[in-house]
Amino acid sequence: MNDPRTRFLTLLHAAVADGTLVKLTLGKHRGADVTLQNVFVRPVVLKAGPHLAFVWRHATRDVTKNHAPAEALALLEPLIGADFLDAHLFTTSSSAQLECQPDGTARLRVKASAPAAPAAAHDRAKVRPIPADAAWLRALGVTNDRGQPREGMADKFRQIQKFAELLGHLLADAPLPTDRPLTVVDMGCGKGYLTFAVSALLGDRATVQGVEARPELVELCNRVAREQGFAPRLSFTAGAISATPLPAADVLIALHACDTATDDALAQGIAAHAALLVVAPCCQKELRPQLRAPDVLSDALRHGIFQERQAEFVTDALRAQLLEWAGYRTKVFEFIATEHTAKNLMVAGIRALPAGDAASAARLRAFAAFYGIRTQRLAQHLGVALVEG
Ligand SMILES: C[S@@+](CC[C@H](N)C(=O)[O-])C[C@H]1O[C@@H](n2cnc3c(N)ncnc32)[C@H](O)[C@@H]1O
Repeated sequence: MNDPRTRFLTLLHAAVADGTLVKLTLGKHRGADVTLQNVFVRPVVLKAGPHLAFVWRHATRDVTKNHAPAEALALLEPLIGADFLDAHLFTTSSSAQLECQPDGTARLRVKASAPAAPAAAHDRAKVRPIPADAAWLRALGVTNDRGQPREGMADKFRQIQKFAELLGHLLADAPLPTDRPLTVVDMGCGKGYLTFAVSALLGDRATVQGVEARPELVELCNRVAREQGFAPRLSFTAGAISATPLPAADVLIALHACDTATDDALAQGIAAHAALLVVAPCCQKELRPQLRAPDVLSDALRHGIFQERQAEFVTDALRAQLLEWAGYRTKVFEFIATEHTAKNLMVAGIRALPAGDAASAARLRAFAAFYGIRTQRLAQHLGVALVEG
């Protein structure tokens, strides 16, 4: 009969090979690095195929890294029962706990999971793209020490998770290069919640830059990035979106950048030939003074709220059409339930089509004319005249 450690490793290899691994946790660290406390491992599917995502939990920061399965197992084997005395493996049908002693003795307990049992904490964590106990979420004030959203941060927490989940799908659809690290730029990144989420999601696969007008937020984000082990692959720059040069971008993100800042960001991403553009527009003010209601709508549009909603619709619909004209297959959808935030429309563009076809230009001109729109910021950036002649 094999010793407990060898049996544990056999279970681990089998779980990785047959895709039943849910999570592996290593604890009771006694290795050389005294700041290291735990290692958490869970499966992730990247464009390059199934990988294992490692979170190396240190006293004050987390370090995240993805590894291909064989590489991950080679990394884990020498740690289990040596640097880490405890190892806990969760699969879809069982859990196995290995407890080793410094004198080399060990005990293994294997339990079948009850399928009808309520989801355990680890199962819930599994479906979240960003682990709730990530140290950067704590450092940015989103979660508390128990990995729960702080008071007033539950919506932000949900938004971060939802955004990370959606971005995973969009990245899988986009024609991204696979032979070099990606460049991701988050314009108008605010306190960097989503910028950190992107960097946590992509790990070493991407260099991520946040651009933000408020220097105090940039300073805070750069400090947290350093302290949490994200720098230098994650960094933040102070400045206006339109004035920040963007020499390269594979992915351009701008969530809730106000009014025409969304257009400035989209134009930068298009000029950089980004494969994926993801924006969540807000404060669509630019077109409101130009909007001319068709006669049949004039009574309805006496109400301010309808005018506001019409301005939002016309602005974002025109943006979507301009993106199509610029060669992007465009998706428009609600990215989080309206009870969590009113600013929930997402416009995503995936580079796919030849740019600048005359038929789509004619259609978007007809749309603009119907609403009396003569100029629009993104159209100006792209050199598309909305009124002919
Ligand atoms: C509502 S916050 C959203 C932050 C973040 N994108 C998010 O969704 O969590 C908008 C941020 O964009 C920044 N911002 C707005 N217009 C900008 C511009 N033209 N240039 C740079 N930053 C801008 C604001 O300072 C603010 O921090």
